[in-house]
Amino acid sequence: MSQARIGIIGGSGLYQMEGIEQARGYELTTPYGTPSDRIVTGVLHGAPVAFLARHGRDHRYLPSEVPYRANIYALKALGVRYLISISAVGSLQEPLRPLDMVLPDQFIDLTRRRDSTFFGNGAVAHVSMAAPVCSVLADVLAQAVHDTGLDNIQLHRGGTYVCIEGPAFSTYAESQWYRSIGGSVIGMTNMPEAKLAREAEMAYATLALVTDYDCWHPREAHVTAELAIANLMQNAANAQRVVSQAVRWLALDWPRSAAHDALAAGLVTRPAAME
Ligand code: ADE
Repeated sequence: MSQARIGIIGGSGLYQMEGIEQARGYELTTPYGTPSDRIVTGVLHGAPVAFLARHGRDHRYLPSEVPYRANIYALKALGVRYLISISAVGSLQEPLRPLDMVLPDQFIDLTRRRDSTFFGNGAVAHVSMAAPVCSVLADVLAQAVHDTGLDNIQLHRGGTYVCIEGPAFSTYAESQWYRSIGGSVIGMTNMPEAKLAREAEMAYATLALVTDYDCWHPREAHVTAELAIANLMQNAANAQRVVSQAVRWLALDWPRSAAHDALAAGLVTRPAAME
């Protein structure tokens, strides 16, 4: 099986990655079921990459239905050590405007019915999630946004991504509450993805694409799927350029990340599968 070092998970609106050479699709099965779609491996700027559409190319999975464990397991099996997650989000703060990009550095997990660990059944581990985003990978993405010279797109470093179960958008009261607990952006998919990536010892960072102001803003339209998709379509091409440039940077020196040793301090009982 081909080896990939950089994984790219494309969210809503980003169902394929341009520019991948020697592309080959893998239909994988894992102990956690099949991933959201075939995984396309190949070479981007000389670096081995793997691309996966989080909701499937035909967008058939609700956020609650995405097979997160199968996705991360399959990417790990392909050799992924750096995982770039591209995700549409609503803004919970005035300065984060639709079409802006955000590199969140924290998450609040409000999901309720998702399998969020590879451990259990006798294998015990508690990985640290104090710093859930790899700052080295986030730096690379920030540099890539800068290099890409997207004049009218503002990048915001840091912020807290509130992950809700969905699929319905939030009520006004919920939206205000997420703001009051420190949320910067809101989405439905980065948890448990970030936790599983940490358990798999992958460096993880999210490039969040702002599509709307959720429903808290007194003057802006309340989010609808139609509004979010219209803004996403404008942003998807920019996101591809940023990721492409980030891959180029990563491949220059394959930086080390604390996430690569996440289990060193977290593993209590070694699972049979890891021996
Ligand atoms: N994804 C994009 N916009 C969103 C919002 N307002 N709430 C949850 N997920 C979103």
